Parts: sequence; structure tokens; C-alpha cells
Amino acid sequence: MRAALRRAADTDLAYGDPFGSRELRTRLAPFLARTRGTVVDTETLSIHAGSTQALGTIARTLLEHGAKTLAVEDPSHRWRTATLEASGLELVPVAADSDGLCVEALPDVDAVIVSPAHSFPLGAALSPVRRRALVEWAVSGDRMIVEHDYDGHFRYDRAPTAALQALAPSNVAYIGTVSPLLAPTIRIGWTIAPSRFSETIGGVTMRTTFAQPRLDQLALAEFIARGYLDRGLRRARAAYKRRRDLVARTLPTTGAAAGLFVHVPLPQATDEDRVLREARAAGIALDGVRANAIGFVDPGVVVGFAASPEPTLERALAALSPLIRGA
Ligand SMILES: Cc1ncc(COP(=O)(O)O)c(C=O)c1O
Repeated sequence: MRAALRRAADTDLAYGDPFGSRELRTRLAPFLARTRGTVVDTETLSIHAGSTQALGTIARTLLEHGAKTLAVEDPSHRWRTATLEASGLELVPVAADSDGLCVEALPDVDAVIVSPAHSFPLGAALSPVRRRALVEWAVSGDRMIVEHDYDGHFRYDRAPTAALQALAPSNVAYIGTVSPLLAPTIRIGWTIAPSRFSETIGGVTMRTTFAQPRLDQLALAEFIARGYLDRGLRRARAAYKRRRDLVARTLPTTGAAAGLFVHVPLPQATDEDRVLREARAAGIALDGVRANAIGFVDPGVVVGFAASPEPTLERALAALSPLIRGA
């Protein structure tokens, strides 16, 4: 922050471009191309307040371009669902399973939102067959895919699968965030959208947030330029892998070795709310699968591991394990 402030020009204190700081976009574009395989340049990359605000902006942009219906993975994060619902698009739930979104069940909608690298809350990576089918569905039907890549930098058993966006840049609006890379409070996220949407994205931003805090963007640009984000990512991956391994050794997890949480399925007859309440009484905050579903889905819990050092995790797992096994 200090270095960014020292270098900032007077004009950097103005509102600036609704797409965000050019300096940050210039630094971020090659980082995303390198680490997520996206097809991106400074002109198609826009900065938002986390991926959540980026989602709202993209949803409103699609609406202004004539889209009415958006398929959503069910289950998927309830905050994401709420944000998208508020945009005015009609949401159409589509089942998701251990291979990700059930692409073969997609109805005739204008767009779909999906997290191919690691779905929430099931923790699934979209299977290669479904990835190909999804791209074919979008390209052949002139539809849009919103790729919500909220934790795609984190894969522990192999190199991360590249963003879907690279396969069909004209049919994908890619959304990412600094939240799992650094910290959610930074509130910086981004979209890479086809250039035909640029003017609308700028317009929606002007009418909603008007402009993003620019000093934070300059600091992040400086952070990337110094190589700190790459270094931090390498260190975080190693630390999170150790934490994930610890959880996976103790609990019966499913899903890809990716992201910042694991999914632990519960037997069908389990009262998920009761397990969540019992965990909370033991001092452990968990999320639930049914708590994030629109339709009827099997119960399960979501265990986040990234923010807790190993000794804390070990204590939590010792208390949690009997609750899960007892269910
Ligand atoms: C499921 C899910 N959605 C969204 C986000 C990020 O939201 P935001 O970018 O607004 O902080 C996270 C956090 O990493 C997440 O786990």
C-alpha cells in the first residue's frame, strides 16, 4: 500500500475507468493467463468488488443483452443464488452430482452458471466429457456460460485444470476473485467477458458501484509486479494441501482434491440441521449441503480448512469426527 501510494499520480485519486485500474488489469491479465489458462487482454478484463459483485454485474449485463433465463447448479452457494436472483434473471435449477453440473439435463435456457474447477458445496470437478458437452451446448446454441472460478487456483493432486473460458472465449464470461488467494476483505474480483459486452459492463458498473476503490487496486498491481502473488500462491497451495490431507485422513470426504473446503456426505436419513447445530455447540462452524440447495438433495456438510492452522484443525476434527460418524 505504501509503495502504491508513493507512486500514485494525482489523477489516480479520481474515480477512473469503470473497468478498474489499467495498471492492475495490465498486471492481472498475464497472471490469469499463466495460472488459469484464460484467454485475456487488458480490454476484456474488468475489476469488481469480489466475485459476488462481478456476478451481479454479469447477470445484469446478460439481461440487458436479452437473456431471461439462467441455469444454476443445484446445489450451489446460496449467496450466489441470492445475488443472481436479485439481478432479475429467472433462475432454473439443474442437478449437480459428483461429476459436476449434469450437462445432459440442461433445459433450453439463455445461459448457465457453473464452477467447473470445483463446485460448491459438493466439491466436484466437471468431468472432461461434461466440459466438452457444455462448451458444445453453448457454442451450438449461441448461449453463454458464466464460469465462476472462485477457488480454481487450488488443486492438490495435479496441475489445476485450465479455465473453461479458454475453450470458447466468445461464449464464456469468466469470473475470479482474490478472496481465496489473499483474503476476502480485500474485495477485489474480476471478469473476462467477450468484447461485445464491454460497453454494457461499464454501464452497469456506472449505475451500481460507479467505481471501485483504486488505491487497493494499485497495491494489488504492485503486489503482482513484485512476484508476491505467485509466491503467496505457491506457499498457500503447500499449506492448504497439508490441511486438506489432515481433514481427508480423518473424515469420509468426497470430491476433487481442490479448493478450500471438502464435502462430507451424510447418510440419507440424517437430519443435516441437527449435525450443524451439534457442531456449532462444539464450537465448529460448518456449512451444509441442503442449506445450499433449491430442490431436494442428499444431506452433507462442508468443512472449510484453509483458514485454520493444523493444531486448530486437529482439535476441531477430534470433536467433529464422532458427530459425523454418529450420523
Ligand atoms: C463458494 C464461494 N463463492 C464465492 C466465493 C468468493 O466470493 P467473493 O469473491 O465475493 O469474496 C467464495 C470464496 O472463496 C466461495 O467459497
